[in-house]
Amino acid sequence: MPGSRAGVTVRVPAKINLELAVGGPRADGFHELATVFHAVSLFDEVTAVPAAEVRVSVVGPQADLVPLDASNLAVRAALLLARRTGVDEGVHLHIRKGIPVAGGMAGGSADAAGALLACDILWHTGLSRDELRSLAAELGSDVPFGLLGGTAVGTGRGERLTPALARGSFHWVVALSSGGLSTPEVYREIDRLRAGRVLPEPRVSDRLMQALRAGDAHALGEALSNDLQPAALSLDPQLDRTLAVGLESGALGGIVSGSGPTVVFLADGPEQALDLSVALTAMEVATEVRRAHGPVPGARVVDGSPAV
Ligand code: C5P
Repeated sequence: MPGSRAGVTVRVPAKINLELAVGGPRADGFHELATVFHAVSLFDEVTAVPAAEVRVSVVGPQADLVPLDASNLAVRAALLLARRTGVDEGVHLHIRKGIPVAGGMAGGSADAAGALLACDILWHTGLSRDELRSLAAELGSDVPFGLLGGTAVGTGRGERLTPALARGSFHWVVALSSGGLSTPEVYREIDRLRAGRVLPEPRVSDRLMQALRAGDAHALGEALSNDLQPAALSLDPQLDRTLAVGLESGALGGIVSGSGPTVVFLADGPEQALDLSVALTAMEVATEVRRAHGPVPGARVVDGSPAV
């Protein structure tokens, strides 16, 4: 096929929210947010290969939990790009999962971001980063950050992004849990827990932004916060113990990641991260424990065989 590529592979990171300030429910059902996204070194890889129709396959841990029908976010991303650019081609999206499935680390959103970028290259649609980001926002609140990566402040429902200055690299320990929490359910639970309260407009704290600018892991550990945490703990009380074990084992800070159930801990360097992961594993509070560092870049092409 002259001018075509055999396949394009894009690597996309997981995200954690260093701060997640959640306002009241909006008329559209979403919640106004002020959040600090941080991309960490757990990656999914999305490979786009020419095909007669749009289809998807998934490999890796918990791959069986990922839907393979039109509800798959990567499939929706490819269909949206094709529709908006008038492309009449299919694609086989092959996803290699490294991001926990249904863990509150935006794995599905990462796949959508990866599919957008991979298909844009495969189909030669040539959208700008801004155009890709606006399609990403239509697919989900966390998808634009999958394209951007690094550390960024998100407002609106999380889709409006401003890159944030962060010095150095931070070391994280990620405690996975099998009890999947549904994001809409966690938001409903926080509304229930805060019913009748007057909520301030969500904003990110100066303390956290200052800790990032200074590259101060101790200050960052103390500034981590997540308004959804009480809701996640209410729906999955087991997470309380996971948090306690991590903090007692020397973590500089710990929070539920996004809507959970993954819990993330900040460590004071790679050695402490290793100690912490050993302690969490020994105490059997997590189904799996992984180490990661951040920030890392957003969606990037790692393999695109040259045009033939
Ligand atoms: O945008 P996304 O599809 O990731 O959102 C999943 C669900 O999370 C939404 O349907 C909504 O219930 C909840 N949500 C919210 N407010 C946000 C983001 C997500 O209520 N800002």
